[in-house]
Amino acid sequence: MACLLALLLALAAIAATAGAASAPNICVSGSVPPLLQALYAPGLVTVDGNSDDWKSIPGMRVRLRQVVGGGSSYLYGDGEATIKAVHDGRDLFVLMQVTGPYVFSSLQVGLNPAMALMFSIGANATFLDMGGCLQEAGSCTAATCSGHEVDIMQFQPRLDAVPGRLYGTNIRDIAIFSGDDRYGHLTDMYAFNPHCKWADGPIATPDFNIGSHGWGAGGAQNDWLGAWQHTSMGIVGQSPFAWGDQVFGVNGSLGDYVYEFSRPLVTQDRLQQDVQLAIGRVQRFGAAFWYPISGQPWNGYEHFLAHCDWMDLELLPGTGAGAAAVGATGATVLGSVSVVMSLGAVVAAAYAGCLLRRHHGFEGLARLT
Ligand SMILES: *[C@@H]1O[C@H](CO)[C@@H](O)[C@H](O)[C@H]1NC(C)=O
Ligand SMILES: *[C@@H]1O[C@H](CO)[C@@H](O)[C@H](O)[C@H]1NC(C)=O
Repeated sequence: MACLLALLLALAAIAATAGAASAPNICVSGSVPPLLQALYAPGLVTVDGNSDDWKSIPGMRVRLRQVVGGGSSYLYGDGEATIKAVHDGRDLFVLMQVTGPYVFSSLQVGLNPAMALMFSIGANATFLDMGGCLQEAGSCTAATCSGHEVDIMQFQPRLDAVPGRLYGTNIRDIAIFSGDDRYGHLTDMYAFNPHCKWADGPIATPDFNIGSHGWGAGGAQNDWLGAWQHTSMGIVGQSPFAWGDQVFGVNGSLGDYVYEFSRPLVTQDRLQQDVQLAIGRVQRFGAAFWYPISGQPWNGYEHFLAHCDWMDLELLPGTGAGAAAVGATGATVLGSVSVVMSLGAVVAAAYAGCLLRRHHGFEGLARLT
């Protein structure tokens, strides 16, 4: 009965949004995943949390959805999200922009929005359960979970992460061989499943779990850089905020959260902790967003997902003319919104979605206090 209702609701939703270029957030077994294409666009974007410089880049629009217990799910209610990517031959740049009122709390991490990207490393890494290795927390090793490695970037900006400034890799954490970021909480991690997830480090599997022992046994390094802003702050260029401002916006202001990231395509990692990207290749990835609904702090598993399984990220080669690839013809030939399922397939998928078990795509985002 519940599933019949879900089917009817899905049909109603499809009727209401017919023609919208949103990637379906419902999976059909064997269907082609949504495709995000990263154009070669050197010198186009600055990683500062302002998305104005991305305007000429086609993006993927998604409805974020949280899958909850009992096989049901609900849509993120405040609007759509946009995901875009470009590269300059050395670095990948990713934008995620989510509509939602500005909220902040200096008291509790779960009262501040957060987001994460996840990439498959191992050939058998599943989206569900963060790699899907079947080992328990104590028995995950590079050997027992080989092939299930996933690479995770998570960003939990708080009042000490100044809008428009760079966080991620920093000399203090690199000095102690940790993929953590003590300043902005933009951490480079790897995992085999939700129980076996660590900040990047110099050994393949620390003998402790980050959940119970805190951050920083670390090593390797944090290869990500990122920045955030909320459009209600009215920042046109780079952020006017400085350390000590502490309150950056007016609680409840309407607008979009903007997150921008960059990372070298290839890193120094030798331990399967970082995904290695290449121009011309397709990489599996996912995106998640955490938001305090109705003022309630989120839990690690309460994420809104851009899609219920891996999506594809394709790094397109340059044409030799640099940014000339961007523009009207680029948008036509290389448009990155990929609606891959027919109407009928979406309906069938909505029904099949009733049978999904609780979704652990990114479960285990660490809640720091
Ligand atoms: C993936 O799983 C298959 C089937 O279990 C196995 O044969 C293969 O070796 C695995 N690949 C990796 C990279 O672990
Ligand atoms: C901002 O709003 C949230 C949600 O209503 C509330 O929990 C929080 O305390 C507010 N923060 C401030 C500083 O007023």
